[in-house]
Order: sequence, then C-alpha cells, then structure tokens
Amino acid sequence: MNINTQLIEQSKIDTVDFNNLNFGRVFTDHMLVCDFKDGVWQTPTISPYAPISFEPSARVFHYGQAVFEGMKAFKDDNDDVFLFRPDENFERLNKSAERLAMPPVPENVFMEGLKQLLKIDNDWIKKGLGNSLYLRPFIIATEGAIAASPAEEYKFIVICSPAQSYYAGDVRVIISEKYSRAADGGVGYAKAAGNYAAQFYPTSLAHKEGYQQIIWTDANTHEYLEEAGTMNIFFRVGDKLITAPNNDRILDGITRKSIIQIAKDNNIDVEVRRVSVSEIKEAAKAGELKEIFGSGTAAVINPIKGFKHNDFKFELPVLENSYASSFKEKLLNIQYNKSEDNYGWRVKI
Ligand code: COI
Repeated sequence: MNINTQLIEQSKIDTVDFNNLNFGRVFTDHMLVCDFKDGVWQTPTISPYAPISFEPSARVFHYGQAVFEGMKAFKDDNDDVFLFRPDENFERLNKSAERLAMPPVPENVFMEGLKQLLKIDNDWIKKGLGNSLYLRPFIIATEGAIAASPAEEYKFIVICSPAQSYYAGDVRVIISEKYSRAADGGVGYAKAAGNYAAQFYPTSLAHKEGYQQIIWTDANTHEYLEEAGTMNIFFRVGDKLITAPNNDRILDGITRKSIIQIAKDNNIDVEVRRVSVSEIKEAAKAGELKEIFGSGTAAVINPIKGFKHNDFKFELPVLENSYASSFKEKLLNIQYNKSEDNYGWRVKI
C-alpha cells in the first residue's frame, strides 16, 4: 500500500525521560493520518506529530462523532516488536464506527499504516517488562457543518505514546448507586469518545470522597456490576472467577476476553454472567470475596484494594498468589515474547 511519508528533521526522543512517563503526555515523532472524502479513504500519510486544523464547525466538536482504540506495541530482548491481537482492535474500531454512523477504515490502511508507523518510530518502543508504546487509533468527523447528521468527511489518525503504568498507586472504588456508564440500546459496547467524557463528572465526585474510580452499575436497577472506571471488571469469589457478559452496555474488552481464555485453560471455574451488588457484598461479609480487578489495554490488570457501596465499606485481602498477578504475568509473558503463545495472539511487526 502506498503511504506518503514525510519524516521529521530532528527527533525529540532525547528530550524524553523514559523512566518517568506520565501516561499519554508524550508522543512520538510521527503520526498516521488518512482522510475520508468523496466517499473514499484517501492515500494515508505518515508525517511529523503536529497540530492539525479543521473547521470549528466540524461535527466532532458538536455531536461527538468520534471513536477510538487502545493498543500497545512491545519490544523483546532481541529488538523484535509485537502487537497483541491487533485484528481485534481493527474489528472493534469498525464496530464502534458503524454504531456512530462513520465509514469503516480499510484493513490495509489500519494494519499497514500501523506497521509503517512503528517501523519509523521504532526507537520509541523501549524494552523491559512494563515499557510499551501505547497506540491510539481514532476516527473523527471533520466536515464543517452543524446539521445534526453524519459527516461526509473524516480523519483516521494514529498517534503513539510511550507508556509505563496507567494507574499509579492503590485503586479503591465506589459502587455507583446513581450514575451509569451506558444504557440498553446505547453505545456502551462501542469505544465512543463520549462514553469516557460522561465518566469524568461522577469520577470527580468519587475523588472528593477519596476513591479513585467508580464501578458502573446497570442503568435500570443499579443492582448489577458492569465495568470499573475505564476497565472491564472481574470478581474472585472463593476460587471462581466471575465477570459480566458482553452486551449493548459493556465493552468487548480484548484483555477481558484474553483473561477468560487463560483462566479456563488453567482450569479455573469462570462464570460469565450478571453479577449483583448484593451477591458481592454477601460474599465479602462471608469472607468469600478474594479479589476484584479491572482489565484493559492501558491498565492491563489492576487490582482493586477496596470498595464502598452506600454505608458498606470493604477492604480486599492481600493475597500471595492472586489470580490478578498470575493472569498478568501470563499475559505479559505472551505480549513481551517471553513465553510460547499457543493462542496466536502475538503479531510480529
Ligand atoms: C485502554 O485501556 O486502552 C483504554 O482505551 C482506556 C483509556 C481510558 C486509557
């Protein structure tokens, strides 16, 4: 595939402190941009990372026609670079795009564009467990027109940010009694930008109470646990692993489905079903609730230290051999090419 490429004159890599990265603040030298106009995706370009301009009337600003993905590139000890299940991100991006009435990105623009970009910005992918290059593909409606209807012009863009951990420090959560992330028939399953904006206000209220995140409950009854912050959520009750099923409201997380697979293959009893607040509180009171953890590309697996639901507060036990640490190790070993990948998830660039 033809990609018009314009390289920077002077890399800024020497100005970056790779040991003290604040998630999503620093970007590599280049970005991939592909325009959709006249009903077709145009020739993509790789150009220096820089501001882009379009009309203030662009629909993305007014109606939130924007979807995105989160991916990571990993480097092993031999300097080989890998992506993790990129086909899943590609499919989900276009599923999200369809829901927001946006045109699907062609597979070769996504895959070849990513590969070329990673080759050019290869020095930004640092070796060592915990280091990765976070990739943010996104599509936005750029056509200038404030009619509330789908745009006819879009940009597909990929930017890259060197990353270490996403959540620093302990995570304690409030189980929401009022706010929801998504509703039946809505866009919860899509990585629509607005899903995240809608979380900021309730999350800021949780911060005021000393909690870092919210566990989102279902919009109808607030009795079922759906996601945690920007992550899918898992509960370990006894030795059983429980997580909510995918549906209209819940993101089909790639880390989530990888954990379910790894757990099953390690003979762990996995239940994918609705999880009620009362069941989890009862398990906590009975000493059966061993772990809660969130999963996502950025956070990988994030143990939750404690939760609150109205007046009930609970601190999770500290376990020597937690499921969270075992799954994380297994996942990272696959991602960093430190173990066999029997699933075919690791894709060499
Ligand atoms: C990810 O985990 O990659 C996400 O897309 C969540 C984002 C808020 C960092």
